[in-house]
Amino acid sequence: METRTALVTGAAQGLGQEFAVALAGCGYRVAGLDLVPQPETADRIPDYLELVGDVADEEVIGAGLERVVDRFGTLHVVVNNAGVYPAKPFEETTPEEWRRVMRVNLEGPYLVTRAALPHLKAAGWGRVVNIASAAVFTAPPTMVPYVASKMGLIGFTRALAAALAPYAITVNAIAPTMVRTATAERTVGADGGFAFVRDRQAVRRTQEPSDLVSTLLYVVDEGSGFLTGQTLNVSGGSAYL
Ligand SMILES: NC(=O)c1ccc[n+]([C@@H]2O[C@H](COP(=O)([O-])OP(=O)(O)OC[C@H]3O[C@@H](n4cnc5c(N)ncnc54)[C@H](O)[C@@H]3O)[C@@H](O)[C@H]2O)c1
Repeated sequence: METRTALVTGAAQGLGQEFAVALAGCGYRVAGLDLVPQPETADRIPDYLELVGDVADEEVIGAGLERVVDRFGTLHVVVNNAGVYPAKPFEETTPEEWRRVMRVNLEGPYLVTRAALPHLKAAGWGRVVNIASAAVFTAPPTMVPYVASKMGLIGFTRALAAALAPYAITVNAIAPTMVRTATAERTVGADGGFAFVRDRQAVRRTQEPSDLVSTLLYVVDEGSGFLTGQTLNVSGGSAYL
């Protein structure tokens, strides 16, 4: 297999860092795009290409992709992982917050994938992986904008899979349960959040970023060309309702 190139958004920490490191471990050349610099990720990946900027900013994306292709010559895999997950009662949400969640979680993947498409087509092979959430199935009442954005991402995944199949590009989503990342520890996992979710999973432990890696590698695998338009619910059998 020729050396493949991957772009991971939100790669500074959490799941994105774990995915970037895992892909590099499989021989991928890896670029990461994040709002903030990614020194930890760069330390863990030789030849890491760090791109700093907003996934919902077309100029940032265009310039970033140019740097990816300048450095690595090609692009095969896009992991749309950057995301935000504010939690609060519905009545307290504001239209600004709703728009921000939609911008980062839904418009970002659209803009990044759209801009990456010419490169994936030129490579003649591609994998787009969208990080959704099992919250779309469990529907926590404090995450209405988030659940709407991730359900939108699943719709995007399904229709885009049909659109890109002629180019040998698959498009799939992965839906984790609550994962122990620094952001989750500070927000949704605090005040008993991890225990609440864990107690509603068949697998009675908190999900770690490493628990998602085998699914990512399966989805991007050379042999997974018939897997497309799917949402892989990797949530330890979670059921709130
Ligand atoms: N942690 C969980 O419990 C959990 C569960 C299900 C799904 N997810 C999803 O997994 C993904 C990663 O979650 P995480 O817990 O690792 O998050 P995180 O906060 O640890 O990391 C997200 C990264 O995305 C970056 N980012 C945020 N907005 C951005 C923007 N506009 N442009 C570029 N980068 C941006 C942040 O700087 C951060 O480095 C998200 O899409 C999240 O919705 C997380």
